[in-house]
Amino acid sequence: MHDGYPMTYLSTPLRTLAAPANAAEDVAGVLAADHDQIAVLFAAALELLHDRARRADARDLIASLIAAVSLHVQTETRVVYAACAARGVSDLRDLAREGVRDHDALQRAMRAVGDLLAGSDDQLVAGLRIAKTLFDRHRETEEDELFTTMDLAFGPDERAALAAAVEREKARLQGELGHPPPARRPIERRAAHLR
Ligand SMILES: [Fe+2]
Ligand SMILES: [Fe+2]
Repeated sequence: MHDGYPMTYLSTPLRTLAAPANAAEDVAGVLAADHDQIAVLFAAALELLHDRARRADARDLIASLIAAVSLHVQTETRVVYAACAARGVSDLRDLAREGVRDHDALQRAMRAVGDLLAGSDDQLVAGLRIAKTLFDRHRETEEDELFTTMDLAFGPDERAALAAAVEREKARLQGELGHPPPARRPIERRAAHLR
């Protein structure tokens, strides 16, 4: 058990969840880094909810988690799945189609979590667990199947171009949401002590 979570972590603005600099060469690396960051937020939120004294902190963290998931899936859908669907490879097209369905289910679960922020801790934990199950499935499908299929269908230059397009789309979406452009700092540096 941890003694506590520093407010610097809990108040981490969404922009620090953007892709870290060292993963920019390949789109799979950028997306996998997102997955790692979101998994850390799920784990931290569930752990904070065990501590009744940290209820407000847990809710702040969950609000950041909802925003991070939304940014991730919107960027994937618009940039990565769109490129996969247009590639003319049936496996990729099928994975993109399934992926969009998974994104819709995950986003619905995250909206339900958002609605539960005003409810009891027990309800919030239950909602978060459902969302985490969907996120874990999303992550597994992409990292085990989609990224491998993309490796075969796209050359290194194309994967790097997709990584850059992911970064641009994230910055654009964050601009729409009123956040400044992404700082290139992985959240893991701040959250390392949480593990
Ligand atoms: Fe996805
Ligand atoms: Fe993903």
